[in-house]
Formats: sequence, C-alpha cells, structure tokens
Amino acid sequence: MDFNFSLPGSVTDGSQIGEILAPIREQGPVFWNDTLQGWMICGYDEVKTVFKRHREFQNGRSPQRSAFGYDAMLFHDTGLHNRLRAVWANEVLPQAVNQRLELLGRIAKTRHAIVREKLAADEAVELVAVFQDYTTDITTTLMDVPDQRRADFKRWNAIISGTSQLALLPGDPRIAQRDEARAELFGFLATEMERHKQMVASGSPLSNLTLMMIAAEGQEGITGQVVLDNLVNLFLGALDTTVRWMGSIVVHLLQNPDVLAAVTCDPGLFPDFLEELQRHQSVVQVTTRHLETEDMELGGQTLRKGDMIYIMPGLAGRDGEIFPEPNRFDIARRPDSEKSQLGFGFGFHQCLGMHLARAEVTAFFKPLLEEMRDWDIASMDYGASWSLWGPVALNIRRRSTSS
Ligand code: HEM
Repeated sequence: MDFNFSLPGSVTDGSQIGEILAPIREQGPVFWNDTLQGWMICGYDEVKTVFKRHREFQNGRSPQRSAFGYDAMLFHDTGLHNRLRAVWANEVLPQAVNQRLELLGRIAKTRHAIVREKLAADEAVELVAVFQDYTTDITTTLMDVPDQRRADFKRWNAIISGTSQLALLPGDPRIAQRDEARAELFGFLATEMERHKQMVASGSPLSNLTLMMIAAEGQEGITGQVVLDNLVNLFLGALDTTVRWMGSIVVHLLQNPDVLAAVTCDPGLFPDFLEELQRHQSVVQVTTRHLETEDMELGGQTLRKGDMIYIMPGLAGRDGEIFPEPNRFDIARRPDSEKSQLGFGFGFHQCLGMHLARAEVTAFFKPLLEEMRDWDIASMDYGASWSLWGPVALNIRRRSTSS
C-alpha cells in the first residue's frame, strides 16, 4: 500500500480524517507497513493492548525522542517513568484542576476580549494564534515563567507547533528554524532551572511545576538533564496538542450548527461533545512503540521481538465493532468506560495533562458558545501532515447579516 503521513489535499471539513484513515483500516486491525517498516495497530482492542502492555511494548526507540526531551517520561517504561510521573501527578488530578478553573477563566477572558474586539470591527481573527497565546499563558503560569519571557515562549511554541516532526521532509528550511527554536527553549529552561534551584535551596514552597521537578533531582535516575528534558516535554506536549484540539472544536461546531445548538442549549453536553470529537477526530493520530520482549500474536499477526509498532488511536476510534456507525459523529454516544476513546492514550503513559486539557478547552469555549452562532470560517489550513490532526491556521469572521 502507498503510504505517507502527508495530507493528500486541502482540508475543507474536519471530518475528512475519516476518509484519510479508511484505506488504512481496510488493511485489518494489525498489518505490516512496508514504507514504515513497522506494524500498524488499528483495531480498538489491539491499540488498547499495546498501550496496556508497557513491559512488552516500550517507547525508548520512538522517532519523536529526539524532537521532545530525550529523557522525558514518555520514553521511559521503567521505575524512572513512575518517579517522574509522580512529581506532577497530584497537580493534574481532576480535583487539582478544578481548583484552577478560576485562573483558566481569567486567562480565557483576556483572549475573548481580543477576539470580540476584532469581530466587532468586522475583521477576521486568526484563532490558532489566539489558542497558542491562551495555552502558552496557562503553561507558563503553571511553570512560573517570568512575564517578560512569555513572548519568547509563544514564539517557540508557534515555530515548533508549526513544524511538527512527521510533517517535514529532509531539507525543508523550516527544520533549521525549528531546531533553533528548540535550542533557545532548552537554553532558556536551563537558566530557569538555575533560578528555581536557588528558590528550592532557600526553602521556597514547591508551588509550581518547575519547582516540583527541580526538587525531585537527585532521586534515583533523576539527573539535571532528566529534569530539563521533562520540562521541555511539558511545554511541547501541553501546547500543540491542545491548540489543535481547540481548532477542531471550532471547525466542528461551525460546520455542524445542530451540534453547536445542542451544546449551547445544554452546556452539560459539552463534555460529551469533547469526548466524541476526540474519538471521531483524535488529535494524536499516531504514536509509536517497539516490541521489546518476545515474539507475540496480535490481531492475527505474529509480531517479532524488536519490531517497530505504529499505534493509531484515531483508527481505534473508528472501529465499528466497538462504535456502531463509527464515521457518524454522535454526541449521544456516551460509550461505557471500557470503550472510551483513546485519543489521550491509555494505561501506563496515558496523557498526564488530559484533565487539564479538558478544563482548558471548557473554560475557553463555554462562555463563547452563544456568540459562535454568528461566526463563519473564512479560511483554514490543516498543515502538511495528518499525524497530528487539527488546524494550524483558522480564520473566522462575523457572519454577515445578509447571509
Ligand atoms: C488535547 C490535548 C492533548 C492530547 C490530545 C494529548 C495526548 C496525549 C497522548 C496520546 C499521550 C500518550 C502518548 C503515548 O502513549 O505514546 C500523552 C502523553 C502525555 N501528555 Fe498529553 N495530550 C494533550 C494535552 C496535554 C497537556 C495539557 C499536558 C500537560 C499539562 C500533557 C502532558 C503529557 C505528558 C507529560 C505525557 C506523557 C505521560 C507519560 O509518559 O506517562 N498533555 N498525551
């Protein structure tokens, strides 16, 4: 099968990911991809099995390891992973996230004001930039980045987000730009580490995510480099994904007025909408592992020790055995927890920030739902690759009263 992660053409509807995925799904729940030289895992049960069996399916050979922090928790499958995860685990539980709702609401409000002002002046608004500002404001607040450096964070975020790894072909000039932004980000976080180290040394309470990770340095396997890599991972993992999701939310609501009407009339449906959108249009369409241990049967195939594995959470969401009429978007689907969408992964490495991500998008959109009825999409661009799904540019306008 001819295969690549490039988008075949321009995207005019967020649901188009279904058409892109269909020929892959037809190959079966598990199949060998010659181009990738690895197994593609597409069936719901099989995807869940790979996520669950973290001793067998490990992540240390991920091609993304060089783009993210090399020693980020996502790339460790041993006790070091657990020690790193434990550092932030309590801060991202639903109770802790709920205590931050007011903060999120305040940050959202400043961004809403900018959107409203432009729309009132009949100007187009590029929402992806707004979402980048919003998510960067949240992350930098949680990481205690000084106000005067937030603009740099936004710039790095925009460059790195716009050049996600699988989207770029060798020789693309944006690779150098991305690498420069990454180097600046690493350099900046290294100086931030020094500042926070002094705070820890002088007995400062561990009141932000940076301080917490710094205080963990010295635990078995947690070196200064490991601390730095995990700070970078937090920055990269938290922003691009949430920004893409926010774009998909807008596109879906504006292209499906019945869904927008449903969540506006009953905001209690908003969480259902978010879960169904992650199933139908997962942000993370592919992630990887390799088979570390013994040969294994999965989905009728024999996987060999050492084989690369491409996990497809978005295709798991389109598995008709689990989700009847999988291509239909159905806000009332509400699968039981055994069959929940896998867009945030599952098991050992399940997204650490998923409750925060849900709270961020809810705090941003709930106050806007009424007025979104007057928005139109002026233009959108989903970038060069479908491996991370969601717009990289999204212009909206106020609907003209004559239409
Ligand atoms: C819509 C937004 C997001 C999506 C779709 C998403 C998706 C994911 C997925 C699929 C994984 C698992 C990858 C794998 O197993 O290979 C993951 C892991 C992770 N995510 Fe997220 N993420 C989002 C937002 C966030 C945010 C806001 C944060 C931080 C505050 C975050 C931090 C992490 C971390 C640290 C991991 C690694 C966890 C581990 O290895 O135990 N993510 N994310």
